Amino acid sequence: MIMNRYILYIVLLAPMVMAEDAYTELHEIGSMRDLKDNETHHQPQDWQSLPEGELGESIKRGYSLFMNTQQLHKSGKVNNGMNCTNCHIGGGQVADAAPMWAAYVSYPAYRGKNKRVNTFGDRLQGCFLYSMNAKDGKPPEVLSQEIKDLNAYSYWVSFGGVVDNNLPGRGFANIDKPKQEPDFARGEEVYQKQCAVCHAENGQGRQVAERYVFPPLWGKDSYNWGAGMHRINTAAAFIKANMPLGQGYSLSDQDAWDVALYINSHERPQEPRFKGNVEQTKEAFHQHNGTYGLPSPLDKHILGSQAY
Ligand code: HEC
Ligand code: HEC
Repeated sequence: MIMNRYILYIVLLAPMVMAEDAYTELHEIGSMRDLKDNETHHQPQDWQSLPEGELGESIKRGYSLFMNTQQLHKSGKVNNGMNCTNCHIGGGQVADAAPMWAAYVSYPAYRGKNKRVNTFGDRLQGCFLYSMNAKDGKPPEVLSQEIKDLNAYSYWVSFGGVVDNNLPGRGFANIDKPKQEPDFARGEEVYQKQCAVCHAENGQGRQVAERYVFPPLWGKDSYNWGAGMHRINTAAAFIKANMPLGQGYSLSDQDAWDVALYINSHERPQEPRFKGNVEQTKEAFHQHNGTYGLPSPLDKHILGSQAY
């Protein structure tokens, strides 16, 4: 309980602290699980060693964008209520929360999602397009200042590490297949007990001064139907390692799968590759573990047909 209250305090204060020079804040880097033998996590440098001059300024702007991506809301490059740090926790520095220091050293890489070799810049654009729901399917250009700054920040947190696309702590938890098929009703129970206190009973998160302090999990301000997080397996792995916030690895695998299915069985912004018809879009892009195009467990409407 003390731990919980502490976290709430941090979360509520964060946006206020962030306004000015939050780049001096430090984050816990370790994951919430015990490390395996010989496993170590890369440790980003501390802010004292920030380079001076243009590069240092670019890194700071990148960090600021990462923490408060809503700066780009007016431009339409962000078209929901999310910030990068909502999923890449602790400014993209925390192990098992898809940290930037493990991602930066993993590109170029071939991706089945767009069937070509992606640079790190392409990957940043991808999260704008899907997780941040960029307006009209238009993320910032690869050579835009925003992408350059996020790139500089990611480079900086990776500095001193090794180039390896499989660093310990990359991505989310390794979670086994569930013993029982994920179930909506069980997921709802987990949700109301373990998640609603922060993300609200209706999944819409909570705002202070029009800024989300607890991000929405579905609805118009959440990630869209094309985002990695809409997949049940990806969300289960994220949730297992990172949620409830500050209590990663406390849920059973089954609970993580059930609640992932629950949150991803609600409407959210439309898939940016939408072909005008849910069935065709599902056929083309959703041959994976998601609920797009399936009947809603609540009212049987086809998920995606009432997307925002
Ligand atoms: C809704 C949650 C969410 C938000 C918000 C989000 N991302 Fe992601 N991001 C993901 C998920 C999930 C993946 C892994 C997706 C996959 O592989 O299917 C990912 C992957 C990435 C990767 C590649 C990681 C790797 O190890 O290869 C980068 C880089 C990245 N995101 C950057 C960003 C940036 C920058 C922002 C903000 C502009 C952002 N993301 C916002 C969920 C999110
Ligand atoms: C103590 C409050 C708290 C609890 C309880 C909690 N979360 Fe979160 N959750 C957060 C915060 C805050 C973030 C964003 C992290 C950040 O910005 O540092 C987040 C982020 C997320 C995200 C990624 C961002 C998004 O909006 O999609 C998902 C998914 C998520 N939580 C699911 C859950 C689930 C499922 C549970 C219950 C098992 C849960 N959370 C319990 C506070 C909480």
